Amino acid sequence: MVVRILLLGSGAREHAILSALLAENAGHEIKVAPGNAGIAGDAETISLDPENPKLIADFAAENGIELVIIGPEAPLVAGVADAVRKRRIPVFGPSRAAAQLESSKAFAKRVMDAAGVPTGRAANAATMDEVVAALDAFGAPYVVKADGLAAGKGVLVTPDRAAALAHAEHYLQVGPVLVEEFLDGQEVSLFLLADGSSVAPLSPAQDYKRVGDGDTGPNTGGMGAYSPLPWLPDGFVPEVVNSVALPVIRQLAEEGTPFGGLLYCGLILTAQGVRVIEFNARFGDPETQVVLPRLRTPLSGLLLAAATGSLAEQPPLEFSDDVCVTVVLASEGYPADPKTGRQISGIEAAAAVPGVTILHAATARKDNQLLATGGRVLSVVARAPDFAEARARAYRALAEIRLDGSHFRTDIAAKAAE
Ligand code: AMP
Ligand code: GLY
Repeated sequence: MVVRILLLGSGAREHAILSALLAENAGHEIKVAPGNAGIAGDAETISLDPENPKLIADFAAENGIELVIIGPEAPLVAGVADAVRKRRIPVFGPSRAAAQLESSKAFAKRVMDAAGVPTGRAANAATMDEVVAALDAFGAPYVVKADGLAAGKGVLVTPDRAAALAHAEHYLQVGPVLVEEFLDGQEVSLFLLADGSSVAPLSPAQDYKRVGDGDTGPNTGGMGAYSPLPWLPDGFVPEVVNSVALPVIRQLAEEGTPFGGLLYCGLILTAQGVRVIEFNARFGDPETQVVLPRLRTPLSGLLLAAATGSLAEQPPLEFSDDVCVTVVLASEGYPADPKTGRQISGIEAAAAVPGVTILHAATARKDNQLLATGGRVLSVVARAPDFAEARARAYRALAEIRLDGSHFRTDIAAKAAE
């Protein structure tokens, strides 16, 4: 079935979603707002503010759009899904109210408590006295989080008590902070399609949040990812469906804020079992870049089913047996202070490496030159029969790309390849 689709966003995640839709070879008519230079090479891009609910809803109605796919969180928080839904146009992405699962850590904790979902202990602190009491109660290492959207930057995990206090003091200026118990274990990102009452899990992935090799340096939006996770215990996915995803989806439905869209469960596999560290209300970046290439079931049908409440009628999702690795190429200075406007070259040679796809995150074309316009510039994605080969391909491709001052992690999926 040919679908007229409007995809919102401009990152490598959206480039990955677009690539999956195009891989169906169904002849979908796809417009992307606003996109980037790489996306513009593959589909029609339009300069439309993706965070303006009325603009997006009007555009979708006037252009006969049959499915709006919301990539990033900001349009969700701005109420774009609500505005589109009001026009009775199917939209993949939760309402502003349900998206609080991501936009408010306090909301997420409350829903988890109500639903009996396993998560770490946490305390909301509005004053430094309360912060000190919570740090003492949970002990080191310390976890301090700003509430609201801070793209990972509001989170500090540290053994250094003074640093934890300084972080809390800084963010208390804007509102309460969350102090959490430190959870020790492997991190897993599990995405589930949700239609308000049913869920369908995708293949698990692991993200690399720290900027440097060996998980050193500050948190970033994500420096790389791989999928599947060969070390996961049997039964992991059904366990998360039954103990985390369904209880949360049911709780939100009961509260009158049904969640339709992508439920991203950020999990830690502790010695005591699975614990939730966060939810997001949209596909993860860069995990999407390694999950969607392996999805064999046509993506458009799944997103439409999620948008129209018919997920339960879908057959189970199918994934290929090969593996996928992505390494993010970042601008000099990322994440603190990325230098932008520099020229990128060598992409064609990189894309010519077998199994490799170059997804664009922050690029623009100017006078026939490709320029880096942000912190995370490209996602180099490699597919292969095994992780050693996928890594070799990804890093061979990266060696072809030139961007002054750029950096990337060299240890993505290294443990999985051993
Ligand atoms: P968040 O934005 O809540 O996902 O936090 C960003 C990153 O900080 C997570 O991906 C984890 O690596 C780490 N983190 C957050 N909360 C905890 C916690 N309670 N225990 C251990 N690490 C955490
Ligand atoms: N990969 C982390 C995120 O998308 O939030």
